[in-house]
Amino acid sequence: MGLPAGEAAAAFAEVARLDLTELPELDDLHNPTGAIAEAQELAADVWHADKTYFLVNGSSAGVLAMLLATCNPGELILAPRNAHGSFYHALILSGAAPRYLPVAEQNGLPLNVTPEAVEEAFARHPQAKAFFLTSPGYNGICAEVAKIAAIVRSHGALLLLDEAHGAHLGFSRSLPATSGHLADLRVQSWHKTLAALTPGAVLHQHGVRVDQHRLRAAMQLVQTSSPSYPLLLSLDAVRREMALGGEAVADEMAGKARQLRSAVARLLPVLTEADLAPAGFQLDTTRVTVLTGQAGVCSFAAARRLAQLGIDLELVQAGALLAVVGPGFHVKDVKRVVTALSGLTQQRAERNEALPPLPQADVVLTPREAFYCGSRYTALQDARGKIAAATVASYPPGMPLVAPGERITDDVITYIQEASRAGVCFRGLDGDGRIKICGTER
Ligand SMILES: Cc1ncc(COP(=O)(O)O)c(C=O)c1O
Repeated sequence: MGLPAGEAAAAFAEVARLDLTELPELDDLHNPTGAIAEAQELAADVWHADKTYFLVNGSSAGVLAMLLATCNPGELILAPRNAHGSFYHALILSGAAPRYLPVAEQNGLPLNVTPEAVEEAFARHPQAKAFFLTSPGYNGICAEVAKIAAIVRSHGALLLLDEAHGAHLGFSRSLPATSGHLADLRVQSWHKTLAALTPGAVLHQHGVRVDQHRLRAAMQLVQTSSPSYPLLLSLDAVRREMALGGEAVADEMAGKARQLRSAVARLLPVLTEADLAPAGFQLDTTRVTVLTGQAGVCSFAAARRLAQLGIDLELVQAGALLAVVGPGFHVKDVKRVVTALSGLTQQRAERNEALPPLPQADVVLTPREAFYCGSRYTALQDARGKIAAATVASYPPGMPLVAPGERITDDVITYIQEASRAGVCFRGLDGDGRIKICGTER
C-alpha cells in the first residue's frame, strides 16, 4: 500500500474494527433476511435485476455459480474464446461441454463476437443449453448484447453474461449503454470499475428461467462460509454511491478518460469508437488501448519503461498497451503518462510484434474429463497431437491458446514459440516451458 508504518497500522485497525462475523444483526450472506437482503434488494433496483447477490470471491465465483446453476454434465454451452479463466474452471466443475466461436479481430487485436457468429454457432449446435458472453471485454469492446440476447432466446437457450468490466456502464450518456438486463444471469466485478474492495462483485438474476434454489446452492458451493464484512460493507457503499450519484461517478470517469485519450493520441495511435463502429462494436472509452504496434513501438519495452516511471498498466498485449481510467484516476496522472509515453515514440521496435492468429480449438474431451484423466508435463515439441490437460493462456487477459481436453496442434506450438519470443508471458507452462498433457504414459 506504500503507507508509512504508523499510518498503515491505523488504516488496518480501522478496517479490523469492521471485520465482524454473522452476529444476529449482521445477517447471513448465504441465507439473508436482514441487512444483507435489504442491501441486495436495493442493488437489484439500481441495476434493473430481479435479484442481486453479493459475491465475496469475485466475479470468478459468480461465473462458477452461473454454470453450476444452469448446465448439467455433458450439456453443450457455446462461448467465444475471449472468456476469462474462471469460465474454463467452471467447465471443469460443471462438466458442461464447450463449443467455441471465433472472436472478430482487427489488426491482431481481438474485438468481440458478432451476432452473425452467434447465429451460425446455434445453427451448428441447436441443442446448446446456454451461451456465455463476455461484454465488455478487457479492452472495453462491447458486443451487440441486445441482438445476441434475441438470438439466444429464439433458440431456447440461456444467456450468461460476464460483465466483470462493465458495472459502470448505463450510468453515463458518454459511455455505451448496457443491455445486460436482457441476460438471464450476469456478473459484475464492482472492485474493477467501481470502488468496492477487492474482490467484491455481484451476480444479477433477470427473469425466472434459472432455478433460484439451484443458483443459491451453487453460490454456497463456491463461496466461503466466512464472508468478509468490510468487503460486504464496501459493496453496499458502492451501491449507495451509484444509486444516489451514479451518473456523476460515470461521467467523471468518462471525462478523465477523454483527457487521457486526447493527450495520448497526440503521441501514439489510440483505439477509438470510430475504429470499431463498422464492425458493429461499441467502445467503453474508459479503456484506453494505445496501438503501439501501429507506431512501430515495442509494447513490452514500452511497458517496462512506464513501470520504471511508476505507471502500471492494466495489460500489455503484442502491439498494444491498455490503460484503465477508474474512479481513482487523477487528472495529474495524465501528465505523467504523457511524459512517459513521449520518450517512446523514439524507441522503435527492434522486431515485428505481430503474432499469428489465435489457433482454432480442436475439442477432444470435455475440460472435466481432461482434468481427471491423469497427466504429465512434456517438452513443447514432443506435445504435437497430444491432448492438453491444462489451460495455456497469456495473462492477462487470459484468453487460452489451448484449454484442457483440446488437441495440441502445430498452430498452438508455433503460437507459443513466437509469442514467447515477442515477450508474451504464459500461464499454464511449467518453469522449463513444458506443457501438461493428458495421460501418464511416456
Ligand atoms: C472478463 C473477466 N471475467 C471475470 C473475471 C474475474 O473477476 P474477479 O477478479 O472479480 O474474480 C475477470 C478478471 O480479470 C475478467 O477479466
